[in-house]
Amino acid sequence: MNIDFYIDRFVEPGRPMVPIEDRGYQFGDGIYEVIRAYDGVPFMVEEHLFRLERSAAAIHLQLPFPRERISEIIDEALTRSGIPNAIVYFQISRGSAPRKHQFPKVDSVMALTVRPASPPPREKYSEGISATLLTDERWANCYIKSINLLPNIIAKDRAVAGGHDEAIFVRDGHVTEGSSSNVFAVKGGALHTPPVTHWILNGITRMAVVKLAGDMDIRLHEEDFRPEWLVSADEAFITSTTAEVLPIRAIDDKPIGEGRPGPVTKKLLAAFRDQTGSLISK
Ligand code: PDD
Repeated sequence: MNIDFYIDRFVEPGRPMVPIEDRGYQFGDGIYEVIRAYDGVPFMVEEHLFRLERSAAAIHLQLPFPRERISEIIDEALTRSGIPNAIVYFQISRGSAPRKHQFPKVDSVMALTVRPASPPPREKYSEGISATLLTDERWANCYIKSINLLPNIIAKDRAVAGGHDEAIFVRDGHVTEGSSSNVFAVKGGALHTPPVTHWILNGITRMAVVKLAGDMDIRLHEEDFRPEWLVSADEAFITSTTAEVLPIRAIDDKPIGEGRPGPVTKKLLAAFRDQTGSLISK
């Protein structure tokens, strides 16, 4: 069953009415997280909550609850939902106040949903996705998981309209990240991904993959690379909570490597699935 939580309680799904003057609604003044649950167990919840706190601090937003309470609400929502493989989305808006640009002194508001996970279709994993390179037009604070996603959704829409699955952003001649994912490449057996700076979101799946690569003795370079270099890589993939580890077969219709998922990508995807699968037997 779908679950909705609003402010301080569970509510009938689809029913909560956001006040017109909610600042998340009017200004995009808020932050969010997306957490995947495997067999009812939220994956890397501590890391998500830590990132939420960092986003909140960066925009001077007081969270409505301490981290422990948010964690309890997530657990309760998952239990109530009975959905084993779920996506928990939650956002914190600065709250509702007469529309003025400066921050008002009001309480922030949490909204949370639990829905069945809908991962990309199987063939996207076996064949790989198509990506397109687009100029990164976002602001300079991409490490904040802001609900203000207009440049991201415009890029995704352009990618999809062009027959692609994801947009990969390029800023000042360097690849930053996907419109809703992090980007990795493999060349000469080594793994490459842009470094964690304010130009990208420090993805939780990225963190998990970096750790797995270390465990598997795969060399890792967290260094900037150019789009031409990416297109000439042996393998490439994106990572996100919703897509996990998703191979890229082509970028702007140029095949990556042999145009199908490569061995390092497949190994990392298998290791990631082992890790999330092991949650299930815990
Ligand atoms: N997006 N970069 C951007 C811009 C993102 O929006 C996301 C995730 C990521 C990957 O982060 P993580 O591994 O923590 O999911 C990187 C989520 C899934 C979304 O907006 O739905």
